[in-house]
Amino acid sequence: MTNTDKTVVVLGATGQQGGSVAEALRADGWGVRAVVRDPSGHRARSLSAAGVQTVRGDLGDPESLRAAFSDAHGVFSVQPNSGQAGTDVTDEDEVRFGAAVAEIAERCGVAHLVYSSAVTAGSSTGVAHLDTKNRVETRVRGRDIPSTVIRPATFMELLVTPDMGLDRGHVSFLMRPDQAMQFIAVRDIGRIVAAVFGSPDRYVGRTMEIAGGTLTGNALAEHLTRATGRAISYSRLSDTLPARDEVLCKLEALVDDGRLAGNANLDALRAEFPFLLRFDRWLEGPGADLLNKVLRSPGTGIAPRRRGASGRARPS
Ligand SMILES: NC(=O)c1ccc[n+]([C@@H]2O[C@H](COP(=O)([O-])OP(=O)(O)OC[C@H]3O[C@@H](n4cnc5c(N)ncnc54)[C@H](OP(=O)(O)O)[C@@H]3O)[C@@H](O)[C@H]2O)c1
Repeated sequence: MTNTDKTVVVLGATGQQGGSVAEALRADGWGVRAVVRDPSGHRARSLSAAGVQTVRGDLGDPESLRAAFSDAHGVFSVQPNSGQAGTDVTDEDEVRFGAAVAEIAERCGVAHLVYSSAVTAGSSTGVAHLDTKNRVETRVRGRDIPSTVIRPATFMELLVTPDMGLDRGHVSFLMRPDQAMQFIAVRDIGRIVAAVFGSPDRYVGRTMEIAGGTLTGNALAEHLTRATGRAISYSRLSDTLPARDEVLCKLEALVDDGRLAGNANLDALRAEFPFLLRFDRWLEGPGADLLNKVLRSPGTGIAPRRRGASGRARPS
């Protein structure tokens, strides 16, 4: 049987990770079935146009998952952000969703479940929306189903958002200016997951921390300065905000003790997955559109970059 004859169900396919996984699986010849809440929505229609089968379903509706998983070879499981501003998904919802996916995949006889966790899983952090990942990992391992857990580092996409401060020529994030933190491009999560489904003998039973590169705060500012053609400086978030934020302090403490900074073996990962992007390459490639979008947003006062014949961003 080739990949073409097998179907992998992708959850969250209208989102970042699931979208990247669906694209990479299609590129490797897999049949892809996306569970979507609104099949008529813009993103679901884009998936259909790319050859992805879309079926209506909801993580909170076990019957819809059973229908979607029947006859599937694999399932990619990712849950929406929980317990934070801008989401109505509670931490308990996230754990319930992740546990339901594993249980139903087992009952449907799925041959390979890949669960996307987070870099901080493996120990209790005291941050509820991070510790949900530990709880789901436990539920996945408790099932009688071949599985792989990936623990992605913080996404590079988080570093290029309209509220990062590019318009003020000053960006802030969780690490100190001289402190290294690992990041991964969302595109590469999809490519790694496709490789995992493609070589179950190699990856079933493994838990893998994944990242594409390391950045200090100062290096982040240097890369953004080069990419925008405008001086960008950097400071740590807690040094920028007027009021003390308890969750932010905990997150920075997790960077300081290494758990959120990441401990992936980058050389070994690069040998295994040669496509992994460092931040500068990501900015020139998949991140270029995102950067241009931020630069085009009102108030930045920075001219968007044009793409040269090489496809790389260059000053206008
Ligand atoms: N940001 C980081 O640096 C980072 C790093 C490691 C791990 N993570 C983890 O990554 C996860 C989020 O992944 P992401 O960024 O790819 O997500 P995302 O882009 O926010 O997309 C969420 C996806 O989940 C779907 N969804 C939401 N509620 C659903 C429900 N009830 N039933 C079915 N589908 C539902 C959404 O579909 P609709 O289109 O219908 O809304 C969408 O496809 C979180 O668990 C987060 O903790 C994040």
